[in-house]
Amino acid sequence: MKSIPFEIIGHIMILREREDTKVLEDFARKKMQKHPYIRTVLVQISKIYGKERKRELKFLLGEEEFETTYREHGNGFLLNPIHTFFSPKLSYERQRIANLVKERETILNFFAGVGPFDVAISTKQQTCKIHCIEINDIAYNYLCKNIVLNKCQDNIYPYSGDAFVIVPKLFYNKINRVLLPLPLEAEKSLPVAYESLKEKSGVIHWQITNHVQTKQIRKEDVEEKIHHILRNNKIICDFTIKIIRFIRWIAPRIGHFAVDLHFSN
Ligand SMILES: C[S@@+](CC[C@H](N)C(=O)[O-])C[C@H]1O[C@@H](n2cnc3c(N)ncnc32)[C@H](O)[C@@H]1O
Repeated sequence: MKSIPFEIIGHIMILREREDTKVLEDFARKKMQKHPYIRTVLVQISKIYGKERKRELKFLLGEEEFETTYREHGNGFLLNPIHTFFSPKLSYERQRIANLVKERETILNFFAGVGPFDVAISTKQQTCKIHCIEINDIAYNYLCKNIVLNKCQDNIYPYSGDAFVIVPKLFYNKINRVLLPLPLEAEKSLPVAYESLKEKSGVIHWQITNHVQTKQIRKEDVEEKIHHILRNNKIICDFTIKIIRFIRWIAPRIGHFAVDLHFSN
């Protein structure tokens, strides 16, 4: 039987390749027999698109129940993959960042989705405050539910709307650590994130995509990219790239990278 790329989110399996329906159904039925917790099968029929990072998903077989709970490192996330972005492949990145957070930090996530970074941090570091913003109303509703589901009401503060409007109004010069988990807005978000750092010092977890042949990206190239963005925004500052980490391939020869930037005044 032909192997078909797939991902499993809660009870939903998403097949990532367009084949004949019969081929997809045979593959799905075999998987469902082996893993009875898979109850719904969808087929991804578009790339991830738009600023909300959604994708077209078509029902293939099983139950027509599209809301699911995904579990990761002891936390549960309610979501509907038809209406919200979610990727199990970012699980390690969420834990990596949660492990870096120190006591009593004030954190800002520009692009929260259904809240997986925020909940991961909150449950590791109860003394920090996490402000998180989401523009997609449906994802925002799940974010609010997931905050309650994981008992994080005391230190996660959700905001519905556009980070590029909300951050200058509420967060300039207030934040110790910023999360920018949206490569699509990497260039636009970096200067806004910098302005939100308290006394121009702190950490920005930037995410970018880049054309690469291997899972490597040259540190000098990333530095040059950052200098260029900061110069264009008339920002003069010192920064150090502490970590560049390959996250995943998002297309042939296009890598998704995490870049940890430390700023000091
Ligand atoms: C790539 S997803 C990441 C979501 C989440 N951090 C995760 O890892 O699952 C980016 C999210 O940012 C939201 N978004 C896009 N532009 C935004 C903006 N200007 N302000 C706030 N949220 C935005 C999208 O709706 C989407 O949910």
